[in-house]
Amino acid sequence: MRLLAIETSCDETSAAIVEKKEKEESACVLSVVTASSLALQQKTGGIIPETAAREQVRYIVPVICQSLISAFAKDENLGKKESFLLAHRFLKEKIDAIGATIGPGLIGSLLVGVESAKTISYVFEKPLIPVNHLLAHLYANFIKRTKNASPNTKIEFPLIGLIASGGHTDLLLFKSHDQYVWLGGTLDDAAGEALDKIGRLLGISYPAGPEIEKRAKNIEKAPFTFKSPVINQDNLNFSFSGLKTEVLRFVQKEKNIDEKTKNQICFATQKAVVDVLVKKTINAAVKFAAKTILLGGGVAANEKLQEQLKQEVKFRCSHVQVFVPEKIFCTDNAAMIGTYALFHPRTVPWQKAKTQEDLYFA
Ligand code: KG4
Ligand code: ZN
Repeated sequence: MRLLAIETSCDETSAAIVEKKEKEESACVLSVVTASSLALQQKTGGIIPETAAREQVRYIVPVICQSLISAFAKDENLGKKESFLLAHRFLKEKIDAIGATIGPGLIGSLLVGVESAKTISYVFEKPLIPVNHLLAHLYANFIKRTKNASPNTKIEFPLIGLIASGGHTDLLLFKSHDQYVWLGGTLDDAAGEALDKIGRLLGISYPAGPEIEKRAKNIEKAPFTFKSPVINQDNLNFSFSGLKTEVLRFVQKEKNIDEKTKNQICFATQKAVVDVLVKKTINAAVKFAAKTILLGGGVAANEKLQEQLKQEVKFRCSHVQVFVPEKIFCTDNAAMIGTYALFHPRTVPWQKAKTQEDLYFA
């Protein structure tokens, strides 16, 4: 089955062509094209939903056309008109279904993707598969980059999924592709959100996660630490808003924040976030006798998080295999949306989620 997938839940406009053979346990990405309104969002220090959606209205058709052209056309030096017609033909002849993010996300942004997907589905008479953005983050682990790449070592159930993104931080237990439960999540800010807000305090542009990681790498350790509030609680929840307040107080107290101190703050912040993510994820894996841990979401791109998790797994549950998506598939992209849809190729009705847990079942 071969899909056109569309992702527009936040500020990215992404389209991908993804395919999977029926019995295979991984999906192959033929193309992925992502346009971002990041430059505009950086000027405002964060995402303005209205700006994101307006940019997505501009990008959506070119991004979809480009994803089709890069997947199927050998000659890419085509004029705009020819390429549009070619994309139209590829969509008609080579695509079996459309997958699109239906939530959670910014409503204006989601509408651009969902309405485009519905229109394509109707006009080209292709089935439409709605996809939950959060679950899709974990399915980025089932992507293999090229047709000839060897498939990932088989991902075994039961598995624990940690989704750590800009808007969410949750732990899930999957007994199979179709059976999963929400185990716990953040009580306030998401991990990525906390990093972005702390970055803002330090004058680091949005999104701050990658630069906080880069600055933390410059030093071996910091002369101070920040707390991970719920780290010793016997539950699978997280909390990051206290960390933000602690860093704010620290910054207000220190008169001169030079580059060295900035690096130390980044180091201590990253440590507070990574320690609790690693500890609770492993607690969940041990508690539910998981065979696998999957990371997903933008924060999963953090190399310190990946290393520390792999290291501590060796000590606490060495039989557990840890999977992390390729960096470009950690942050928002349509390839993960298509991959999730290929593993769940059904057109299901969706409903409005009311609680954090509901988001995974909507
Ligand atoms: O999954 P994502 O692209 O978007 C959402 O669905 O929210 O995640 C974006 C988040 C941002 O908060 C960003 O700062 C964080 O992921 N992030 C990172 C890294 N790369 C992105 N956090 C820590 N280390 C990174 N290398
Ligand atoms: Zn995301």
